[in-house]
Amino acid sequence: MAQRLKKAVIPAAGFGTRLLPATKAQPKEMLPIVDRPAIQYVVEEAISAHLPDILIITGKGKHAIEDHFDRNFELEEEMRKSGKGKELDEIRELIRKARLHYIRQNELLGLGDAIGYARDHVDNESFAVLLGDTLLRPSGSCLRKLVEIHERTGDAVLAVEEVPADKVDRYGILEIESETSEREFKVKQIIEKPGLDEAPSRLAAAGRYVLVPEIFEILDTVGPGKNDEIQLTDALQILAQQGRLHAYQFEGKRYDVGNKTDYVLTTLEFALDRADLPGIREAVAEILEGERNI
Ligand code: G1P
Repeated sequence: MAQRLKKAVIPAAGFGTRLLPATKAQPKEMLPIVDRPAIQYVVEEAISAHLPDILIITGKGKHAIEDHFDRNFELEEEMRKSGKGKELDEIRELIRKARLHYIRQNELLGLGDAIGYARDHVDNESFAVLLGDTLLRPSGSCLRKLVEIHERTGDAVLAVEEVPADKVDRYGILEIESETSEREFKVKQIIEKPGLDEAPSRLAAAGRYVLVPEIFEILDTVGPGKNDEIQLTDALQILAQQGRLHAYQFEGKRYDVGNKTDYVLTTLEFALDRADLPGIREAVAEILEGERNI
């Protein structure tokens, strides 16, 4: 039986080049999905999985993330005076619940290198990782399941989903050893962004992990991999070889908000689900019919 998990790590240091020019002077994690920055949904997910101790790995040009999760007393006072405090209640509540910590990645050497910065903070405990440009719905249920599998097995676990063949080269792709329970697998192999001909399946790493503290020593040994970056996938592959990596095919939807098409579609889908923003569905239909003049 493993120790109770308490900490979450959100890597959010990348340049966001796939969303340029929007991300030239603004972190991609701060781009709004309707009226909340993407990273707020990720922080909410960690909290709903009972992991309020959150370390965000930031980097150059990412100050807006820290400012977002901080009180702004001047703004609050202005809002209060005009009787409109409500818009800030939710974020104030989030700041109250979360214990947020920040560390900067000095050089962008890859996801594995970024995770390495969490070593002192997690202090020899297992921890969850939530990629800052990936949203999952329903929020929290996937992560809670990963934690449960980890606490049962003592091993590292990652969330996976099936992706279309033309997208295998965007993800870490798995070869399964066996199905240990419904939607749960023992992993034989994981390969970072393989070509379709080398991909052992279409099961892709979906941006949520529970890692064991040994990962840090392994990361020290892997060296640059795909795209000359230190890849988390290469460290996970070593755990897989030792028979210590599990996967969970989560139920729900994943939104990769780090590329333009998916960013637009995510915003639209989240907006369509908002009862306080009526009329969007009809307006989209009118746009498609070429009948709408905004
Ligand atoms: C990272 C991981 C990859 C994973 C993906 C999920 O890639 O390296 O294994 O499948 O996240 O979004 P990135 O999107 O940072 O290139």
